[in-house]
Amino acid sequence: MPDSDLTLARTGGRELQRIVYTEEQIAARVREMGREIAAAYPGPEPMLVLGLLKGSFIFLSDLVREITRPLQVDFLVASSYGSGTTTSGNVQLLYDPNAEFEDRHVILVEDIVDSGTTLSRLVPMLEERRPKTLEICTLLHKHIATDLIREPRWVGFDAPHEFLIGYGLDHSEDYRNLPFIGSLKT
Ligand code: IMP
Ligand code: MG
Repeated sequence: MPDSDLTLARTGGRELQRIVYTEEQIAARVREMGREIAAAYPGPEPMLVLGLLKGSFIFLSDLVREITRPLQVDFLVASSYGSGTTTSGNVQLLYDPNAEFEDRHVILVEDIVDSGTTLSRLVPMLEERRPKTLEICTLLHKHIATDLIREPRWVGFDAPHEFLIGYGLDHSEDYRNLPFIGSLKT
């Protein structure tokens, strides 16, 4: 089957505006990020990689395999009510890990930073648990927010201001299983 037919099979016939990042581009960048993260923590201190569900699930699973140092994985589930193409301000934790933070390097893994609302709620909650360090790693950064509570230390791609789907990112829960990142025809 040609690629475009496979894509249509995955989207149930909905056409994409364009492919923004191919599978190959994503894999190469995720590999680089993993190496950069490992190099930034040469010491023996334990590391906890915290994936923010659901959007980060594919990125996280690829990323941790490229971080060539010991680490542990846990997840956060946050809900920002609303299912369309905009983020609402109300961020709630639906699942909260009971993992130890003290003396650990904690890395929060996000799919995309858009308005920064999610980060502004999560960073203070995580800091309260006194990790040794707390850094943010995001696959995509739209650079929209001018007052981010914390700039991500690792950014996969500076993303265009379009609504992106695939590789974990959804539109009303659809399209997370696309192996590339695309934008939707509006
Ligand atoms: P923020 O709180 O506005 O920074 O947005 C963060 C969350 O909104 C992300 O974790 C995504 O779940 C969602 N989001 C923002 N922009 C997009 C997009 O372009 N595609 C899919 N989800 C998005
Ligand atoms: Mg979402």
